Amino acid sequence: MLYSRSGPHGRQWGLAWTIRKVVPVLFATTVLLALLFSMGESTRAAYTSSNSSYLKYTTVTGFFLQDDNSTDAKTFDYTEVNLGLINRTYPTDDSFDPSGKKTQWERFANYVSSLNSNAASNEQYKVLIMGRHGEGFHNVAESYYGTPAWDCYWSLLDGNGTITWADAHLTPTGIQQALVANSFWSNALATAGIPAPESYYVSPLARCLATANYTFSNLSLPESRPFAPVIKELLRESLGLHTCDRRSSKTWIHSEYPPWAFEPGFSEDDPLWDANTRESSSHQVARLKTLLDDIFSSDNNTFISLTSHSGSIGAALKALGHRTFSLVTGAVIPVLVKAERLSGQAPYTSIEPSTTGAPSCTANPTPTTAAVSAAASVSATPTSTSL
Ligand SMILES: *[C@@H]1O[C@H](CO)[C@@H](O)[C@H](O)[C@H]1NC(C)=O
Ligand SMILES: *[C@@H]1O[C@H](CO)[C@@H](O)[C@H](O)[C@H]1NC(C)=O
Ligand SMILES: *[C@@H]1O[C@H](CO)[C@@H](O)[C@H](O)[C@H]1NC(C)=O
Ligand SMILES: *[C@@H]1O[C@H](CO)[C@@H](O)[C@H](O)[C@H]1NC(C)=O
Ligand SMILES: *[C@@H]1O[C@H](CO)[C@@H](O)[C@H](O)[C@H]1NC(C)=O
Ligand SMILES: *[C@@H]1O[C@H](CO)[C@@H](O)[C@H](O)[C@H]1NC(C)=O
Ligand SMILES: *[C@@H]1O[C@H](CO)[C@@H](O)[C@H](O)[C@H]1NC(C)=O
Repeated sequence: MLYSRSGPHGRQWGLAWTIRKVVPVLFATTVLLALLFSMGESTRAAYTSSNSSYLKYTTVTGFFLQDDNSTDAKTFDYTEVNLGLINRTYPTDDSFDPSGKKTQWERFANYVSSLNSNAASNEQYKVLIMGRHGEGFHNVAESYYGTPAWDCYWSLLDGNGTITWADAHLTPTGIQQALVANSFWSNALATAGIPAPESYYVSPLARCLATANYTFSNLSLPESRPFAPVIKELLRESLGLHTCDRRSSKTWIHSEYPPWAFEPGFSEDDPLWDANTRESSSHQVARLKTLLDDIFSSDNNTFISLTSHSGSIGAALKALGHRTFSLVTGAVIPVLVKAERLSGQAPYTSIEPSTTGAPSCTANPTPTTAAVSAAASVSATPTSTSL
């Protein structure tokens, strides 16, 4: 037993109501979203799950270093600091751990469980553990060509003849990053009493499937908490234009990861990617809010793992009221979230339309031999100022 299961672990509110009212609407919403998106138009209506109530999210700060303004995301290494869990006491320590023998994670899990036991009937707390995929071939290509040339030209192609980045796979470095996460979890489960995730949600893009697989496949998990991922369409990266963000078929995913589950309604072919339009940031935030609403309305569990992308984790953080925290490839961020179901209509947020077409290239996107050798000589001689 990794930590006390005494609290009402599977806390939930109005589940019957939720399943009857919200789940069908969420399905309809997903279909609507696809429809509206393919028309190159998006409206708030696509995300309005109901006019009678909505979920409001708050990030509860003071528990993880990542939610502290003074933590620098660029240099932060979660493996060195227990995933960012702050060393502190909780109001529930005295009764749970009178002799001071429990670990930080055990005391934290107990505290979160007490927050749920004492929460009002319209409130719940969850700990979301969000991991970005390891380095993919598209990440390497974007660095190689530079972002302007990537966005205006290369991102629209499937590859360059040497490497392929359509539904980008992990590079050997990316696999290594996922194995670092694997050894982090392996040690933290064995020595730090970290609660194993109770649910696992994964983006359908190949780089996230592989990252989740290498991270969680062969851990010694408690029997009650197996690694049983569910693939969720809305967890994917920004929609459209870039081929690295176009997913493979359900048949292909199933053939690579036969035991993994798909959420209900997951379609054979990619329903959301469009070759001519790129999703706006506000659309992405609304999409991730819809995903969170789905999880918070249908999943009783508290510790929830999500494997996703920099843009979509950033959008989820925004929907959760968390400060900006950009994850480097392979990084992980935990967030303690309070959700409240409030009556009435959600406050209005505007959703910008998707942009049509890629930006035009302002220079030849193909590196000339001279530019490539100049770049090589610059990186070989770091003191060079001839950038
Ligand atoms: C919510 O109300 C608006 C108008 O007030 C209406 O257009 C819309 O269809 C309603 N949405 C739902 C899901 O009932
Ligand atoms: C963190 O920064 C934000 C924005 O700069 C500010 O509004 C907030 O008060 C800061 N929080 C703390 C705890 O300093
Ligand atoms: C918490 O304390 C331990 C030693 O007791 C230390 O190794 C660890 O780095 C500390 N973690 C943080 C996040 O400060
Ligand atoms: C394709 O891109 C990779 C970097 O992503 C680069 O190493 C390789 O040289 C490129 N191939 C061609 C033919 O330009
Ligand atoms: C999944 O992970 C396991 C264990 O690390 C590995 O042996 C297997 O090849 C991986 N599967 C795929 C499709 O990458
Ligand atoms: C999990 O698999 C990776 C490589 O696939 C290996 O390095 C690691 O030791 C394995 N861990 C366990 C607990 O079997
Ligand atoms: C949530 O928990 C209740 C009882 O604790 C259980 O009956 C129900 O099936 C669970 N629902 C889901 C979606 O797991």
